[in-house]
Amino acid sequence: MKFFIDTANLADIQEAQDMGVLDGVTTNPSLMAKEGITGTDNILAHYKKICDVASGHVSAEVISTDFEGMVAEGEKLAALNPQIVVKLPMIADGVKACKYFSDKGIKTNVTLVFSAGQALLAAKAGATYVSPFIGRLDDISTDGLGLIADIRLIYDNYGFETEILAASVRHVMHIIDCAKIGADVMTGPLSAIKGLLKHPLTDSGLAKFLEDYKKGN
Ligand code: E4P
Repeated sequence: MKFFIDTANLADIQEAQDMGVLDGVTTNPSLMAKEGITGTDNILAHYKKICDVASGHVSAEVISTDFEGMVAEGEKLAALNPQIVVKLPMIADGVKACKYFSDKGIKTNVTLVFSAGQALLAAKAGATYVSPFIGRLDDISTDGLGLIADIRLIYDNYGFETEILAASVRHVMHIIDCAKIGADVMTGPLSAIKGLLKHPLTDSGLAKFLEDYKKGN
């Protein structure tokens, strides 16, 4: 399972990268705004910085909602760095743009996916990644993990190569459950990734080992 970090915060990206377990980064316009990155030039420059810090794919989202605009923006984003994956919304023009980029060999991530039907369309359009938002589904009392399982089944039935990128991950159990179901990738905050480290028996066990070592030395 690949681990992506879902942030535009360079310090968090650096920390995850330094842990040695990071496979990529996802961003979105809200995450950029959260870091105070505004204006096209600043946004493009920030994507370049992210690529310098992280190894692996970096999803950069288009703002346009029409096919021509998405193509123009996506081509600009893809030209920034070979690590860039063009992130497109799950709307009709987004699917069309996905097919366009996929035919050109440019990597894509179809975002804002909330149903198996949407995931099927993204795969048929040749998406590199599909991003079902499990946390936001859980927020409205719908089974986010169930959606990951449905997409896994459908993709395996037909041998689709689109990678299931479980997005809107909020906590450790989302990661574990996605791994059990067979999501190819998860993207979440640094807190969820670091949360995997924690177990009280590890802490108490290590404290005891160090205490016993000190007794004999
Ligand atoms: C995915 O690519 C999105 O950036 C993200 O996972 C959305 O998560 P949120 O629901 O926590 O905003």
